[in-house]
Amino acid sequence: MNPVEKQILGKVFRSKQKTFTSALILAAGSSTRMGGSDSKQFLCVGGIPVLARTLLAYQRAECIDEIVVATRIEDIQRVEKLVADCNITKLTAIVAGGVDRVESAHLALDHISPKTRFVAVADGARCLIRPDEIDRVCRAAYQKNAAVAACPIVDTVKRVGALGNVRETLNRNELWAIQTPQVFQISLYAAAITRTEADEFPVTDDSSMLEHLGYGVYTVPCSRNNIKITTPEDLILAEAILAAEEKAE
Ligand code: CTP
Ligand code: MG
Repeated sequence: MNPVEKQILGKVFRSKQKTFTSALILAAGSSTRMGGSDSKQFLCVGGIPVLARTLLAYQRAECIDEIVVATRIEDIQRVEKLVADCNITKLTAIVAGGVDRVESAHLALDHISPKTRFVAVADGARCLIRPDEIDRVCRAAYQKNAAVAACPIVDTVKRVGALGNVRETLNRNELWAIQTPQVFQISLYAAAITRTEADEFPVTDDSSMLEHLGYGVYTVPCSRNNIKITTPEDLILAEAILAAEEKAE
């Protein structure tokens, strides 16, 4: 951690109460693992597009004050229509995303309100998140500065070499699958992005950028149902989860 970063982190705002929170919904990926020509954000689960489900959850979360969406430039008009159809009144900007997830997050971050104290970074594709889970992660972040939705893993995880040779079995009791939202105090997140980009540090989630900065991150247990729509099998799983939830209501 360099002296400037130490100064920022030393002054980090700690609040136990709700404070202005902006959701950055990242939906600008290329959906390679899903296959097909269209973005997975517009595929339907239970008759509603994936991104619409995600936006509705963040619209309904009490802690979220504004929503900024990053999408592919060619999808901007479709997202505008979806926002209007779903009456997403918290939406303040739709921005063209970048070549990777960090760049999309950075571009979205450039459009948040000057009032923002915390950002809730979310995968557009994680469409089964519940509003109460979003609020729980936000409230944890207001106390700890950095909190992420997470779930204990159920599989045994091994480190495997290039030839398929098992090198090590990790202790499952310590392993969690990390989800979104990931909620951070704003200056902490901005510092983490700057450092990650400068170091070209490879990341697959936002909280690893804070870890790279040497800052502690806390997990908030959320449902295993909070899956990310990644491959065609996930659509089948999401339909089944929704059907089960509807039956339980
Ligand atoms: N994402 C983004 N900008 C990028 C890459 C990803 O906003 N340049 C978003 C995706 O749209 C998605 C989330 O980050 O909502 C998680 O990424 P992932 O599941 O990997 O989605 P894709 O990158 O679209 O899928 P794939 O990796 O299979 O191409
Ligand atoms: Mg990707």
